[in-house]
Amino acid sequence: MTVTARHVGPLLEIKGLKTHFFTQDGVVKAVDDVTFQISHGQTLGVVGESGCGKSVTSLSVMRLIDRPGRIVAGEVLLNGEDLLAKRDADMRDVRGDQVSMIFQEPMTSLNPVFTCGDQIAEAVQQHTAVSRREAWDRAIEMMRVVGIADAKRRAGEHPHQLSGGMRQRVMIAMALSTDPDLLIADEPTTALDVTIQAQILEVMRDLRTKNRMAIMLITHDLGVVAEMADEVVVMYAGKVVERADVRTVFGTPHHPYTKGLLLSIPRLDERVERLEVIKGTVPSPLNLPTGCLFKRRCPYRMRVCDTAPPYQEVGPGHFSRCWLTPAGEEPAVGADATGDEAEAAGEQLTVETR
Ligand SMILES: Nc1ncnc2c1ncn2[C@@H]1O[C@H](COP(=O)(O)OP(=O)(O)O)[C@@H](O)[C@H]1O
Ligand code: SF4
Ligand SMILES: [Mg+2]
Repeated sequence: MTVTARHVGPLLEIKGLKTHFFTQDGVVKAVDDVTFQISHGQTLGVVGESGCGKSVTSLSVMRLIDRPGRIVAGEVLLNGEDLLAKRDADMRDVRGDQVSMIFQEPMTSLNPVFTCGDQIAEAVQQHTAVSRREAWDRAIEMMRVVGIADAKRRAGEHPHQLSGGMRQRVMIAMALSTDPDLLIADEPTTALDVTIQAQILEVMRDLRTKNRMAIMLITHDLGVVAEMADEVVVMYAGKVVERADVRTVFGTPHHPYTKGLLLSIPRLDERVERLEVIKGTVPSPLNLPTGCLFKRRCPYRMRVCDTAPPYQEVGPGHFSRCWLTPAGEEPAVGADATGDEAEAAGEQLTVETR
């Protein structure tokens, strides 16, 4: 782990990040003015339906955006240093050493040519001054930690010899083996069965406590968020629409989208299918509505929603991008307000502009 005695602020600060894809059909604003922070040892859950910009946000932090995508604005500060201003070579040191990432698709980060043990040992040696032997032992230990049976033998096998779930665990072992300050986990347990999932979450929790590792946990599984996260960021169509501590998000959510997500959690004690609670789908990034991006699906929609809502503080440390008042009522500006009236009211309401 990197010692950073000088920096006292949050571990990671993302400010006004915009990552756009310049496709033949038009500009896809995958991440559009995203701001949030993660402190040392904190777990931030990032939730939202598929296509909301969660993966692109995390790949932007790692500076792994390829053409036609480009980070067009914003800052990504790690321990106060702007990663977006770093040279490629310096960025390679940051990856794995200070920040590790578990990808949605394990094959992207495993090399088919080398054995699993070799790859983990290599990662360990790149970031810690240990002998090959020690690195190899650490690799096997980490494979055991993530629940791979017969780890010694498996370490000598190549990725294609393992099942998908097993590969996922090798990747997790690799990401955790270097004791990063920040782990970015993009749907880390989606492909795994429930027992293994619980095991992996336990490993992450353990490292968080032992090493003060921070975790950016991207998942559509709100159960995992409730269990793991301290704070939650809800994304919709490339924007953060709500942010609060985990208790608040689950107890008193403000944004209608968050409410819909919570209502769509299937409950064991109910026989009714609840997954269809939020009507419709995420709008195509090439055909976004004007005003509130959620308005086509929102049961609370008012005329004022044709103007982009402010990102307002609706409670202590609780932010929501919605025209409803903090208590969830129609805004004083009047549900019928449009244009300039709404803009003016929005400016007054906005506590934090992003
Ligand atoms: N290489 C790409 N080219 C064009 N659009 C992309 C590319 N990668 C991602 N996108 C778009 O960016 C948006 C956000 O994607 P993503 O971050 O992967 O969503 P999530 O992880 O929340 O499911 C989506 O609309 C997606 O289609
Ligand atoms: S701003 Fe309007 S449309 Fe958007 S979420 Fe709030 S109430 Fe719904
Ligand atoms: Mg994704």
